[in-house]
Amino acid sequence: MADDERSIEPELLAAAIEVQANAHVPYSQFHVGAAIRTRTGRIFTSCNVENAAYPQSVCAEAGAISAMVSGGERLIDAIVTVCEGDALATSCGGCRQKIREFADEHTMIYAAGPDGIRKAYTMAELLPDSFGPDNLGVGRSGPSSS
Ligand code: THU
Repeated sequence: MADDERSIEPELLAAAIEVQANAHVPYSQFHVGAAIRTRTGRIFTSCNVENAAYPQSVCAEAGAISAMVSGGERLIDAIVTVCEGDALATSCGGCRQKIREFADEHTMIYAAGPDGIRKAYTMAELLPDSFGPDNLGVGRSGPSSS
């Protein structure tokens, strides 16, 4: 990775690392933190929250999206997800679709590890030819629709 890639999104990366520490992961021991910056500049974060009934667990991205929408925002400018380990870890398939709901062609998705940002994607790179609100004739709406 180039040195200039390490310096991208320092504030968002710091927010993701901070919330990663709160992850409730007694089953996987895999701490994840996610931080979203909306197009209006606000930041929303979440960690993953696991459950003894495994399917009830919530990914970090899903929690951050819920916080964003609850805060009255609906357009992700950038999202950083920070995971543990040496391997590149990107958002799971379900989370890619959840991000897609609130993304546009300018949205950036960053995958980070303990060493910082490892890879950057556009939404189309992470979820090509995706299904979205437009397929159902629905545009983005709400308090931060533009
Ligand atoms: N996890 C996330 O929080 N986000 C992802 O996109 C990948 C997986 C969490 C779910 C579970 O708590 C742990 O990582 C192991 O799968």
